[in-house]
Amino acid sequence: MLLVENISSGYGQSRVVNEVSINIQPGEIVVIIGPNGCGKSTLLKTIFGLIEPYSGKIILNGEDITGSKPYDLVGKGMGFVPQINNVFPGLTVMENLEIGGYLYKKHDFREIFRIFPVLLEKKKEKAHNLSGGERQMLAMARALMTQPRLLLLDEPSAGLSPKMVEVMMNKINEIVRRDLCSVLLIEQNAKSALGIADRGYIMVMGKKVFEGGPHEILDHKEIGRLYLGRKDAKN
Ligand SMILES: Nc1ncnc2c1ncn2[C@@H]1O[C@H](COP(=O)(O)OP(=O)(O)OP(=O)(O)O)[C@@H](O)[C@H]1O
Ligand SMILES: [Mg+2]
Repeated sequence: MLLVENISSGYGQSRVVNEVSINIQPGEIVVIIGPNGCGKSTLLKTIFGLIEPYSGKIILNGEDITGSKPYDLVGKGMGFVPQINNVFPGLTVMENLEIGGYLYKKHDFREIFRIFPVLLEKKKEKAHNLSGGERQMLAMARALMTQPRLLLLDEPSAGLSPKMVEVMMNKINEIVRRDLCSVLLIEQNAKSALGIADRGYIMVMGKKVFEGGPHEILDHKEIGRLYLGRKDAKN
């Protein structure tokens, strides 16, 4: 579905992502894990066309989309929920969802409310009155309004309580298992994310350093110790 081939990108002279290759198959949840500042968000922004890569190729469903702009990518079935500023705080839940679907007139509120019943309950509430978890659910729901086949999520559980992190992971799992779309997920809560992921990539200082199934990553001694906060793992 998505092939990212040797992508390098960054900001002006400052190279942040270094020849990264990843892929996502239909129906998969793929997670990218890595320390702060290693270039995860930059990679996601590059895939969604917000940053033009220095080199490399991005292929979506067999089509070369390198350099395509976000608006066109939404039309081709890509959705993106950024790490910050991902809802309009002064608008109601319903207004946020309407704006999400406005460009493509693909509203299916029933499906969205089936997955996120709390948004139906609070549809007249302003987004800034929602809890952190509810706001993240609204951001995800808003992106789903364009019926993406591939959804890019940048740290949807950041700042949430451990219980809420699990709720978010279950929602993401539900979205994919109901066959709404595939998901490329960036997460700091590595263990929770690997609990729902089919595969994962570890990124360090702009480079992909490891890839594998959730258990290969969780059981990998050095990665467990360095990136998953596992104290028992030894070199
Ligand atoms: N708009 C920007 N202009 C210049 N440099 C930037 C910009 N955004 C990010 N960077 C730099 O790029 C590097 C990677 O940032 P990025 O946001 O991709 O990391 P990240 O892996 O998503 O980190 P985090 O886990 O903290 O979200 C950092 O050194 C950051 O300072
Ligand atoms: Mg980030």
